[in-house]
Amino acid sequence: MLWVGTSWKMNGTLGFARDYATRLAKALADGAPSGVQPFIIPPATALTVVRDCLGPDSPVLLGVQNAHWEDAGAWTGEISVPQAAEAGAALVEIGHSERREFFGETDATVNLKVRSTLRHGLRPILCVGESAAVFEAGDSVEHVLGQVAAALADVADPSRVVIAYEPIWAIGEHGREARPADIAPVFAALADEWGDRVTAILYGGSVNPGNAVDTLRVPGVDGLFVGRAAWTIDGYLGLLDIAAGAVAQVA
Ligand code: PGA
Repeated sequence: MLWVGTSWKMNGTLGFARDYATRLAKALADGAPSGVQPFIIPPATALTVVRDCLGPDSPVLLGVQNAHWEDAGAWTGEISVPQAAEAGAALVEIGHSERREFFGETDATVNLKVRSTLRHGLRPILCVGESAAVFEAGDSVEHVLGQVAAALADVADPSRVVIAYEPIWAIGEHGREARPADIAPVFAALADEWGDRVTAILYGGSVNPGNAVDTLRVPGVDGLFVGRAAWTIDGYLGLLDIAAGAVAQVA
């Protein structure tokens, strides 16, 4: 199964969400392409709108971009995993590099959030990835394996976890597109250590229609976690098509 999804980050009005989700529901009225698991992670404010526009039988999984590890309490500005679940989330994105860099997320808080997410029966999308300096030093594999081990400490059963490898140097408008050779060693190591124990291992960072096919061919890549290239519905549908083509080629 190839997982193909997008986080909208801090983008999108309710009108945008309604339009995007309505068009997605129409495009997937007969189900998702065979072998492809779509997912959308809108801002939390738009989650219920997206859920309602997709409808109860949608194959699209929804998520939130962050959630606190406590179930409730005096944590101003946060939302909890049960609150996210009630609003329609099946997935919780955890440890994106923007949250680690700008909001003080650490391996320890990432671990707490992963455990809370699993405790409530949702799936963590655990984001890991190295900086340009670590990449240049040739330490990507060690760094990423360390992040995953820390995030999954004391997790007895990681089988519901989705790992997203997103090198920081490849993310966003200042990122550079990864070549398959840049990311292959990390995927080889992740697949070797975690491939049989987690749900899927995705790649994220400047994914676009021009590099998606080659990225999906890297051994160990089970899908794509996309930002900018999926912020239009046509962009997202195009990437779902590419993934469907990749599934068909392997079959
Ligand atoms: P991008 O974002 O595709 O816009 O580079 C990826 C991400 O942050 O997950």
